[in-house]
Amino acid sequence: MTDPDAVRARHADGPFLRACRGLPHNTVPVWFMRQAGRALAEYRAIRDDHTFEEVVQTPELAAEVTLQPVRRYGVDASILFSDIVTPVQALGIGVTIKPGVGPVIEQPFRTAEDLDRLRPLEAESDLSFVMQTVDLLVQELPVPLIGFAGAPFTLASYLVEGGPSKSYARTKAMMFSDELTWHRLMDKLAGITLASLRAQVAHGASAVQLFDSWAGALNPVDYQRYVLPHSERILDGLSDLEVPRIHFGVATGELLTLMAQAGADVVGVDWRVPLDEGRRRIPDGVGFQGNLEPAVCLGPWEVVEERVRDVLDRADGAVDHIFNLGHGVLPATDPAILEQVVDLVHREGTVRTSEGDTSRAPVGGDAS
Ligand code: CP3
Repeated sequence: MTDPDAVRARHADGPFLRACRGLPHNTVPVWFMRQAGRALAEYRAIRDDHTFEEVVQTPELAAEVTLQPVRRYGVDASILFSDIVTPVQALGIGVTIKPGVGPVIEQPFRTAEDLDRLRPLEAESDLSFVMQTVDLLVQELPVPLIGFAGAPFTLASYLVEGGPSKSYARTKAMMFSDELTWHRLMDKLAGITLASLRAQVAHGASAVQLFDSWAGALNPVDYQRYVLPHSERILDGLSDLEVPRIHFGVATGELLTLMAQAGADVVGVDWRVPLDEGRRRIPDGVGFQGNLEPAVCLGPWEVVEERVRDVLDRADGAVDHIFNLGHGVLPATDPAILEQVVDLVHREGTVRTSEGDTSRAPVGGDAS
């Protein structure tokens, strides 16, 4: 295993980690959620011969798929190829990832007894294939590796609904009618997520992203009561590791302030919120990531170009802005468009570094 601190030191001066820490750098960093897989022919070629789970569980394949978008797009960060349900799958919960649908749970969680099926995660052994993937990646990656995990609410929504949902009715029914069981479930999932993230960092991940993809289904009052304490436990539980913590969810415009308060160093802004408005909702000292609408990338280059410029204008050269989509790459996206997006952001994104230009205090690390 490569020394994880040496790996992080190697990447520390790159634009992605400097932006996460609010430190001056030359180019606006860019990466894309769901950059691995989906749109890439080289990923589909691997998937022709292997199931999704086989790719995730075979370190050489998972590392290769993680690297594909780095080679193709020239992004400033990579994200581990895995899934938010991988840890619970490793604990023996029957989960199948159905192409075009998402995770489907064999026996959904509906009662207090179902919680007995979740034991604590021993990340080194239960997720040994993930740790081996991280070990391989940090040796060869030219850019930092972002580790990730699903936040408790989003994981609970899959376990309770049994699959993707529009209304989250069963999840909310448990939340409102059996608060004790709800918090016990969230507590168990928070423990699993924290163990998974800490292990990824121990193996050399330079940053982590906590995906609370479906938290936008909640209003701020319910988010604060039923979700925030658990996500806070995870983010606080990572603070001693001194890696930037990114916190993202879809349609979370009304939750951005709370998601920062939960303990994030960077908050991901969904594409529905104008980025300047999103930034105003995120407290000083916390960076922001986003937020080109993924579907825009299905349009002609002239339209994409205009929208990329709009995102850059709204970010206003902030030292703590990381360019991304406002959710994941859509499978129908032409990879050539994403390549052009990266080029444009690198060419035209300027970071204002002189004093007074940006008011934010650096997050963690050395402010020199
Ligand atoms: O971002 C990356 O490129 C890294 C790998 C990654 C995957 N899933 C691979 C994957 C990451 C970070 C995830 C996280 C994930 N998984 C989230 C949070 C991010 C988000 O989009 O909000 C969620 C909600 C899931 C659950 C999940 N897994 C969904 C909704 C799907 C899509 C189903 C589909 O085919 O549209 C999956 C499957 C999945 N995870 C695929 C990939 C590449 C497609 C699987 C395939 O090859 O068929």
